[in-house]
Amino acid sequence: MVDDETGVRAAGEATGKRGDDVIRLDGVTVKFDAVRALADVDLRVGEGEFVTVIGPSGCGKTTLLRTVGGLQEPTAGEVRVAGRPPDAAREAGEFGFVFQRHALLPWKSALDNVTFLRRMAGESADRDRARDLLETVGLSGFEDARPAELSGGMRQRVAIARALHLGASVLLMDEPFGELDELTREEMGVEVRRVWREERKTVLFVTHSVPEAVFLADRCVVMSDQPGEIAGVFDVELPRPRDESVYGTAAFQEQVARVRTALHEGYELR
Ligand SMILES: Nc1ncnc2c1ncn2[C@@H]1O[C@H](COP(=O)(O)OP(=O)(O)OP(=O)(O)O)[C@@H](O)[C@H]1O
Ligand SMILES: [Mg+2]
Repeated sequence: MVDDETGVRAAGEATGKRGDDVIRLDGVTVKFDAVRALADVDLRVGEGEFVTVIGPSGCGKTTLLRTVGGLQEPTAGEVRVAGRPPDAAREAGEFGFVFQRHALLPWKSALDNVTFLRRMAGESADRDRARDLLETVGLSGFEDARPAELSGGMRQRVAIARALHLGASVLLMDEPFGELDELTREEMGVEVRRVWREERKTVLFVTHSVPEAVFLADRCVVMSDQPGEIAGVFDVELPRPRDESVYGTAAFQEQVARVRTALHEGYELR
């Protein structure tokens, strides 16, 4: 049920709009000793949906992504990805990860870093596509550069190209634009949405930036401070496809204001 005034959808009722649920979390809790990183989280992400997650530092966003990706066992509750446990989904190559700290191989060129995971998965390197993706992220001419020769933001862009190159159906992205300047962030947002649309990925995307969380999303999940709970879920009604012009519209500003308020005040929905 969506509250008409706030546009907030009650946590647990957030069903994917664009197809069957690909990601399902039911009552997921993750504890680290005394710390409850996630507390009773229910979330659905539909096939082909772009869902962003925003919340204060330390509220459990990375833990959420790691749990969906099968890198973190929940203490309680159940996670399913395409109907399977996340481990099985990971082994089947369902996931493309972009971690908060990019994990590039320092001795390999940008191009080889992009193709590396595909080769590890026993697929063709497809270097032409890797070059195209490097161009997409604004790194033409840097194919042969080693990570040490790139800036932090450029390294992040290599990691984004690598995740896109994998051909995985579900992208789990943890603040992938964190080290980019604002203009590049906005441009990358448009690009990631374009690739998402063209390649019909399902995306769960963590960010600290409210405008980014709104611009990118079909739905935006706001998390409360520790223990990480879902404080609100917003349907983002903006034009599809979106380009930079959306940033200047009143509708965009309105949705940003609503998410910002939810972040500041938190919503008690349960
Ligand atoms: N492996 C771990 N062992 C112990 N505590 C952990 C571990 N991973 C995360 N935590 C704790 O769980 C809480 C949530 O951490 P998490 O990294 O998920 O937050 P976050 O929302 O991603 O924060 P940020 O926005 O700063 O990246 C924090 O209190 C953190 O200290
Ligand atoms: Mg994090």
